[in-house]
Amino acid sequence: MEKLLIKGGNSLSGKISCSGAKNAALPMIASTILSNESVVLKNLPYLQDITTMFELLGSMGAEILLDENMDFTISSFDLKDIQARYELVKTMRASILVLGPLVAKYGKARIALPGGCAIGSRPVNYHLDALKQLGAKIKLKNGYIEASANKLVGSNIRFDGVTVTGTENIMMAATLAQGVTVLTNVAKEPEIIDLADMLNSMGADIKGAGTDEITIKGVNELFGTSFTIPADRIEAGTYLVAAAVTNGSITIDSINPNRLMKVINMIERSGPKISFDDNSISISMDKDRPDPVDITTAPFPEFPTDMQAQFSVINAISRGVSNIYETVFENRFMHILELNRMGCDIEVKGNHAIIKGVESIYGAEVMATDLRASASLILAGLCAKGETVVDRIYHIDRGYERIEEKLNYLGANIVRLPS
Ligand code: EPU
Repeated sequence: MEKLLIKGGNSLSGKISCSGAKNAALPMIASTILSNESVVLKNLPYLQDITTMFELLGSMGAEILLDENMDFTISSFDLKDIQARYELVKTMRASILVLGPLVAKYGKARIALPGGCAIGSRPVNYHLDALKQLGAKIKLKNGYIEASANKLVGSNIRFDGVTVTGTENIMMAATLAQGVTVLTNVAKEPEIIDLADMLNSMGADIKGAGTDEITIKGVNELFGTSFTIPADRIEAGTYLVAAAVTNGSITIDSINPNRLMKVINMIERSGPKISFDDNSISISMDKDRPDPVDITTAPFPEFPTDMQAQFSVINAISRGVSNIYETVFENRFMHILELNRMGCDIEVKGNHAIIKGVESIYGAEVMATDLRASASLILAGLCAKGETVVDRIYHIDRGYERIEEKLNYLGANIVRLPS
């Protein structure tokens, strides 16, 4: 297994660009199933999860072509094998995103039921309940979701809990349903708006994405489009933390700051100066140590759970005590045990982490347990004294494009060690 060797202590400086957002790209790739024509996606990030999603569509019979501009043309309009096998679903839970589009377009789907994962049990009951309310019949058999419907029919659906991929799944399914669907208690993440924009450019009629209520008027068919994946707000937030914990001064290009305003505000509270315009964010950390900042994760526009692990590194080296409450997932503190092995002083009580900032942390051999946990260990390695080796970095390759190259470009010292 590849590892990352990080020599800590370098202050980051310079300018980098964000890649396309993984969590915008995944539902967009799934949405090509709804189209009767080929769809072109631009600025797709080169990530393991994207490859897995392509593998999934490919296994059903889609044709995917890459051109000289690195744009992908995806033809998913004539699928033969309407199922997502367990081999793929077990490596990527977001495979569930093909459920809504398949039932809407082909009237059936067989999708392996995703199991729990490192950050929580992550059931899909909200997806299934909502799909049933659109008229689908759903059976669970041999570890698979078997869904069928002659024609989905629009309905008023209130989600029992806020779910990002659930909102996306049902929004996609409703585009081809008969009549009007009104979704409430929906997720408002920027990726929901991105997906609605893309579906509307394919001929869908969706209003209200990004608000509490999304209205979808079903149409008979969807067509091809060419769509550019927006930049990854979590990647941007991760690099802001990298600058904050290394007394760095960097500019991140091609990112709309409104997508991560809460993250910007909280990082700013810890000490760095942050400025931004429509398309870039600059950060400069002049204080020797950050101030502690309490955070509570919650759905957008609140502090994202996907930035919790990274932010904990700011608090870990801060001048004081802070609290982090994780309210979205029940087991998203796996990085804390590894951070403590590097000299951090963090106590976890259920969904609450109490962080006593320490003056210095030290390199160690640590193990990544999920994508954002890996990012936090790399960030800790950047500000630790000595060498840190992060094992199981396949997690990081699922969601950060060329992370060590980008950080090295800013002055970090990270080497990828071969298996
Ligand atoms: N939940 C249920 N039932 C459901 C769906 C969700 O109980 O049917 C619960 C979950 O267990 C969790 C909460 O609701 O406690 C929120 O989960 P959500 O469904 O919103 O998560 P998701 O859609 O599976 C997406 C991102 C995650 C991100 C979460 C929260 C994608 C592909 N994944 O997951 O991203 O953490 O929203 O913002 O968009 C990551 O990128 O590292 C990542 C894990």
